[in-house]
Amino acid sequence: MSLLFSPLKLRSITLKNRIAMSPMCQYSAQGGQVTEWHLLHYPTRAVGGAGLIIVEATAVEARGVISPDDLGIWSDEHLPGLKELARRIKSAGAVPGIQIAHAGRKAGVLSPWKGGKPLHLWTPVAPSPLAFDEGWPVPQELDLAGLEEVRWAFQQGARRALLAGFEVLEIHMAHGYLLHSFLSPLTNHRTDRYGGSRENRMRFPLEVAEAVREVWPAELPLLVRVSAVDWAEGGWSLEDTLALAEALRQRGVDLLDCSSGGALPGVRIPLGPGYQVPFAAEVRKATGLATGAVGLITEPSQAEAVLQQGQAELVLLGRVLLREPYWPYRAGQALGHKTWPPQYERAF
Ligand code: FNR
Repeated sequence: MSLLFSPLKLRSITLKNRIAMSPMCQYSAQGGQVTEWHLLHYPTRAVGGAGLIIVEATAVEARGVISPDDLGIWSDEHLPGLKELARRIKSAGAVPGIQIAHAGRKAGVLSPWKGGKPLHLWTPVAPSPLAFDEGWPVPQELDLAGLEEVRWAFQQGARRALLAGFEVLEIHMAHGYLLHSFLSPLTNHRTDRYGGSRENRMRFPLEVAEAVREVWPAELPLLVRVSAVDWAEGGWSLEDTLALAEALRQRGVDLLDCSSGGALPGVRIPLGPGYQVPFAAEVRKATGLATGAVGLITEPSQAEAVLQQGQAELVLLGRVLLREPYWPYRAGQALGHKTWPPQYERAF
């Protein structure tokens, strides 16, 4: 029996297998609204057999979009589109999940295929007034009222995700976006109780996790994506991630999705097959928290090995699922499982 195709129970939700679609921005929304593209793209991966689909970074505030083409969840007006999206993912056989996000100082850029440059349309917010890079806006430092607003926005986002019918929620604390920028000493230079010591830098992201857990039902799983390391001298470290994982576990987070990087531009990341898997393995070993492994996992045997070696509970696939929506069928064939629907029986 392969582990990849064994079910995973998280609270009351059972994933039919350990294959999750990693959240990936489609830069195809309009005013934050779901469009036809999302309604085709995500259910295709559900038909393809992934057990969990995590819809892309979806902004909890208008000023927190990465690009103006990002999905949004900051208004009740986003609900009908998100409801239809969750319904279609579920009817195609996967558990519908969504990542809620705030881009912080990295907000307000053109979509990648339009050039990715900062637009300077509004002043982004951040823990400290430090621009991401040359040519990027200097963000406004969030004051206490601002922190309250953002915390509330995350909570409202979680409430709407539930109303829309999503069953798994992921908070984005990675890739240099707002919550990660509170964690990293490279981007958080505050001198109040939200900066300085690791405990202080963790305070705001933990408050957000608590606010979200308050409204996200006890029977539904809550995931957090982190950048386990900054890959930079003096930055957030794996040891810091272990402390954060423990604090998140105590606050009702069920699984840590272990990514890395993004706090600073121009950082060299040693890319290679499964390059972030050791982070998931360490967190799991040190804290007992369930983990998700992501990053250049592309082969069925490789995904199976991650699980067999006890490095993670869940494997998240990104780009390979863009290239091959039906990757789980290929994995099923390789690992001796029939994973395709009866409609496609005669193809195999
Ligand atoms: C991403 N990634 C990403 N991560 C995230 O947490 N939220 C997001 O919305 C996005 N958006 C996104 C868009 C696109 C086009 C790509 C290629 C990537 C990162 C992604 O989820 C994943 O972690 C990485 O791509 C590494 O995994 P793979 O692609 O090597 O399997």
